[in-house]
Amino acid sequence: MNVTVARVFPFLLVVLGTFLWIGYAITDLTGGGRKSSAAVDISPEGGEAIYWGKGRCFTCHSVGGEGSAVRGPNHGQFGEKFPLSMGARAEERAKERSEKEGAAFTAVDYVVESMASPGAYVVNGYKNEMAVVYAPPISLNLTEIKAVVAYLMSLGGDLDMEAIDSGPSEITQKFYAKISAAAAAGGGDPGLGAVVYEDNCSECHTLNSEGGEVGPDLTDISAKGLKFISTAILEPAKSMTKGFETYVVVDKEGRQTVGLKSRDEAGEVDITKANGDVVTIAKADIKEIKIDDTKSVMPDDLSEAMTVKDYQDILSFLMLQKSKPKQ
Ligand code: HEC
Ligand code: HEC
Repeated sequence: MNVTVARVFPFLLVVLGTFLWIGYAITDLTGGGRKSSAAVDISPEGGEAIYWGKGRCFTCHSVGGEGSAVRGPNHGQFGEKFPLSMGARAEERAKERSEKEGAAFTAVDYVVESMASPGAYVVNGYKNEMAVVYAPPISLNLTEIKAVVAYLMSLGGDLDMEAIDSGPSEITQKFYAKISAAAAAGGGDPGLGAVVYEDNCSECHTLNSEGGEVGPDLTDISAKGLKFISTAILEPAKSMTKGFETYVVVDKEGRQTVGLKSRDEAGEVDITKANGDVVTIAKADIKEIKIDDTKSVMPDDLSEAMTVKDYQDILSFLMLQKSKPKQ
């Protein structure tokens, strides 16, 4: 160890320790956890354990007089501001929503939405700072989330386990699909993934009839599975899609064109380059044409421009891409 490192290292330890301590101290101040949880049952009791433990809900929410956190709404009945506990409140909000939109929306849909898409409805008087509870560092899985929903619905509401677990509504099923995809992708956020996709991928790929046409259509990509998609992004040449091979054309003057063979007719071929430009080459001018299977037209350094979080987010976004059934 050189001298600078020897001096800086203990200093870093002190800084790190202080941050950890502040983290614990704040958690204690803002409510304090109760018990921690192992495997949970989908039941109000299971959810209660998550709420006051792994889910860290108590760091921002209280339930009536239990806990002291105020960053998020109280989930119990508390003073004039909270005349209804969460279960009853969800029923009221759902009723308002159904009337406003003229489509069925249930209390369970409301509670599940507040976890699956916290930004979709922001409670009056609060900031849009509800945690994404299925992403790191909280990373609840679907079972744990269902348990928490059961707990919240049991607070003054009508606890309907069928609506939560065995026979959820279509809206709730969609939120569950989003949460599962995110959990499978290491807790990515598909909403943020959509933005990463727009910025890095849409110029070459089509989704639901929109976007570029250099690469394969990704509308149904979830069917290929997480592992495949992950390799396709990290090492494109390793999982080259059939029909999208990389062609190298050298003409008689020695000029080289690299891209996809997008047209092949009697007298000429079209090569589509990575930037989308199409080059037409007369067959009579071609000296050599061959496939390079060591390099994809899709850049292999895309992941370098992304943070780990971007990568998790985009994986969870792609795991939701499934073509809609034909009407
Ligand atoms: C970082 C702070 C924070 C954490 C952690 C957090 N929440 Fe929230 N939550 C909020 C805030 C702020 C709101 C209000 C804004 C909004 O509606 O998005 C909210 C809103 C909600 C609502 C809607 C409340 C209402 O009155 O309609 C529910 C339900 C909810 N959170 C459940 C949970 C659960 C369950 C957990 C734990 C798994 C949790 N929250 C963790 C901050 C947090
Ligand atoms: C310059 C154009 C280009 C860009 C930018 C690009 N791709 Fe591709 N992509 C391709 C081409 C060409 C292929 C087919 C060759 C291959 O498999 O590598 C492909 C293949 C794929 C496949 C495999 C599809 C299948 O059905 O087998 C996936 C998944 C994919 N890309 C995802 C992405 C994602 C995610 C991004 C953004 C982070 C991205 N691509 C950016 C051109 C591009």
